[in-house]
Amino acid sequence: MAQNWTPTSWRQKPIQQVPDYPDLAALAATEERLAKFPPLVFAGEARRLKSALANVAEGKGFLLQGGDCAESFAEHGADTIRDFFRAFLQMAVVLTFGAQQPVVKVGRIAGQFAKPRSSNIEKQGEVSLPSYRGDIINGIEFTEEARIPNPERQLMAYRQSAATLNLLRAFAMGGYANLDNVHQWMLGFIKDSPQAERYRKLADRISETMDFMKAIGITSENHPNLRETDFFTSHEALLLGYEQALTRVDSTSGDWYATSGHMIWIGDRTRQPDHAHIEYCRGIKNPLGLKCGPSLTGDGLLELIDLLNPQNEAGRLTLICRFGHDKVAENLPRLIRAVEREGKKVVWSCDPMHGNTITLNNYKTRPFERILSEVESFFQIHRSEGTHPGGIHVEMTGNDVTECTGGARALSGDDLADRYHTHCDPRLNADQALELAFLLAERMKGGRDEKRMVVNG
Ligand code: PEP
Ligand code: CO
Repeated sequence: MAQNWTPTSWRQKPIQQVPDYPDLAALAATEERLAKFPPLVFAGEARRLKSALANVAEGKGFLLQGGDCAESFAEHGADTIRDFFRAFLQMAVVLTFGAQQPVVKVGRIAGQFAKPRSSNIEKQGEVSLPSYRGDIINGIEFTEEARIPNPERQLMAYRQSAATLNLLRAFAMGGYANLDNVHQWMLGFIKDSPQAERYRKLADRISETMDFMKAIGITSENHPNLRETDFFTSHEALLLGYEQALTRVDSTSGDWYATSGHMIWIGDRTRQPDHAHIEYCRGIKNPLGLKCGPSLTGDGLLELIDLLNPQNEAGRLTLICRFGHDKVAENLPRLIRAVEREGKKVVWSCDPMHGNTITLNNYKTRPFERILSEVESFFQIHRSEGTHPGGIHVEMTGNDVTECTGGARALSGDDLADRYHTHCDPRLNADQALELAFLLAERMKGGRDEKRMVVNG
């Protein structure tokens, strides 16, 4: 077990991004109740994800992580979850084909409720109120009452997470994830896309492969792999009282696990090595993500790696890089070189969302071409450093929202007002998400062909 660590040791450390709960006795009572609730996920599942991520760290897989910036109570419903899962699986199939490697599927879902904010205060006109911090903490409405942190919301978030996870488990195991279905959905997308011609080649090759498999007798009836899928959950471990309440000892190993989700990550604003969020995360055995933004130095990263993964276990730590399309070239190489120099085992993932947010017509948005450009640079830099670009981390939804500009349908700044529903940051809609997967798959395939030419030539 981590030295001098307990599920409560984070309480002795300085902490950022804590809500100001007016009634601390009510907060403590809620946390006590939560501590008696059943775990949402199991240690064995978290270990399975860790070993899938270990393969990614070794260059033998690809991580797809994505979902809402912030889940909300208002948007909770079966259709939203189904549409997300569907778009996500389509991306995964396209990426599997592009990478020719297993894709590890991790949703930002079933627990992604707490948000770090750049300011404690939101000002509208002459009125200043505490910032919205996610539905698990306070309400998004701009009223004094809604913005008061309310512990009861933690119980609601827990229950919503349980219901969401229940449906996702059914989708993953009950036939909905059947590869035949996913393939048909993908063909539907291509038929309707303005970029149809461009994607058709890749789609035809996937169709051919599936026909070939059928011809030699590999079908979803006789191969459960084709009708079931491993799907894992993740969220930012920001609200540590909630996380602590769901931290449990695994009876088979005696180790502590966060049971609020399979993987949890540490945000870019809360990764101070001597602070509470790092303290909490170092003691649990789940796979961890660490957001790496422009302010992180090579030495700073190595210090965090030693705290979070002292045994240098592959699959334990995913570095989620989020620099911005124009900053990635300046920042990523120094981190890669530090990690390589010390022989640290990590998964390198690219979050092309959080460094590319701009304001347009009073909406927070992200231009699709900047998102694509950051991912492309990420791939190129890894290629030239000889390391594995192991994954992407995106904010997306299965719905037809208008939150990010660009993409094949060329959403403009004027379209943003149509269906702008996010509770926090702008998400790729289903078409934009799948498009990103197609464009990446093309690049990955291109990269492989290039490598082959170098080897053979
Ligand atoms: C997020 O992932 O929604 C987020 C707040 O990211 P970051 O910590 O990288 O800013
Ligand atoms: Co976000």
